[in-house]
Amino acid sequence: MEKIIVEGGRKLKGTVRVNGAKNSAVALLPASILADSTVTIEGLPNISDVHTLEAILQDIGAGIEKPSPHTIKIDPSTIVPIPLPNGKVKKLRASYYFMGAMLGKFKKAAIGLPGGCFLGPRPIDQHIKGFQALGAKVRNEKGSLYLEADELKGSRIYLDVVSVGATINIMLAAVKAKGQTIIENAAKEPEIIDVATLLTNMGAKIKGAGTDIIRIDGVDQLHGCLHTIIPDRIEAGTYAIAAAAQGEEVIIDNVIPEHLESLLAKLREAGVEIEQNDEQIIIRPGEKLLPVNIKTLVYPGFPTDLQQPITALLTKAEGTSIVTDTIYQARFKHVDELRRMNADIKVEGNTAIINGPAELEGAQVRATDLRAGAALVIAGLMAKGKTEIIGVEHIERGYENMTEKLAQLGANIRKVKMTKTEIEQMNVK
Ligand code: EPU
Repeated sequence: MEKIIVEGGRKLKGTVRVNGAKNSAVALLPASILADSTVTIEGLPNISDVHTLEAILQDIGAGIEKPSPHTIKIDPSTIVPIPLPNGKVKKLRASYYFMGAMLGKFKKAAIGLPGGCFLGPRPIDQHIKGFQALGAKVRNEKGSLYLEADELKGSRIYLDVVSVGATINIMLAAVKAKGQTIIENAAKEPEIIDVATLLTNMGAKIKGAGTDIIRIDGVDQLHGCLHTIIPDRIEAGTYAIAAAAQGEEVIIDNVIPEHLESLLAKLREAGVEIEQNDEQIIIRPGEKLLPVNIKTLVYPGFPTDLQQPITALLTKAEGTSIVTDTIYQARFKHVDELRRMNADIKVEGNTAIINGPAELEGAQVRATDLRAGAALVIAGLMAKGKTEIIGVEHIERGYENMTEKLAQLGANIRKVKMTKTEIEQMNVK
């Protein structure tokens, strides 16, 4: 087990390159099983959520080759629809994409209900509603979902909640259904367009991905293809926030700036100077950071996945900022840890009230989930003295080489192995 040690106060300068999007990758890997021949995916982030999905693909019989850490070749021709009630599927939320993909391919699936970061209740009723509308019988038994259909038939499905996962899962099940499926009130995140692009390259007929109505005309067969994953807008946003917190001038490379408009608008409002070109964002913090109010919303609104990192940044703003998370009401576990570092933050319901500027001080803190971890790293970069972050495994689910990338920008940050005593103490706390 490892911990991250940050000695705060160093200025960040230079270029950081962003990897392929985690939340695309974790859907593209299950999606690939719908093909009958080899799918090659480039730009794969080298993170533990991806490694877990690769292991699940191998468990169900896929041929996997990794010519490089960022490229995978998946041969789905040998896959069998074995049930996956337990084990690896419980490690991450995105394993639920095997429900849609297996249902689409084999007309049946048995998958354990997913794990993932605890952010408050994360129901999957809209996924189930979609599968049922396509003709699947769905049974929940001892924490696993059993899905089965004689035939999948296209249907009109209105999502009661705009959901990334449900939109993608229904697309996966519908691409090989008979006839047309229409998903209304679909989510519009760039990752949905990325998955639709892969499926289209595999021979699927999908129109409207990226809008709130997606039309899918079922086809009988899908074939292999080559696909390159879009850049990770949340990883890019995390480094943009770190740069706003502690940068002199940081260039964030391999981004689609349009995917980050809501964040960039808020950073500008806070007094950060931002330049952008086709594939880069250049961040230069202003003289002082101004407070801003933020409400997370579905895309293209401010992403919930950047709520935690920006809350850490706003501890530095001169005045009161109000941050409301409308997507995950309980995504505030980072706040207790930030308070240990001397932040003045109050949580009321789904809103954090941040009084700044606080002079953060290094402390021992725990990353309770992926983006909480990113928030604590950013806080550590700003804090006086030494911050030790445990729960590094959460960070590594979604950020490739975060400590190395920040060290390259000039941060004093490293990962070290924890001693046996430290691990014992950590488990007691
Ligand atoms: N919801 C329902 N019913 C459903 C599905 C969702 O009520 O059937 C609710 C959720 O409880 C939540 C809202 O709808 O309040 C949005 O959830 P959504 O389904 O869009 O989230 P998700 O697909 O489970 C993905 C990302 C999350 C990201 C959210 C929102 C993946 C693997 N995960 O989750 O990413 O926060 O969309 O943008 O794509 C992260 O990367 O740290 C992360 C948690």
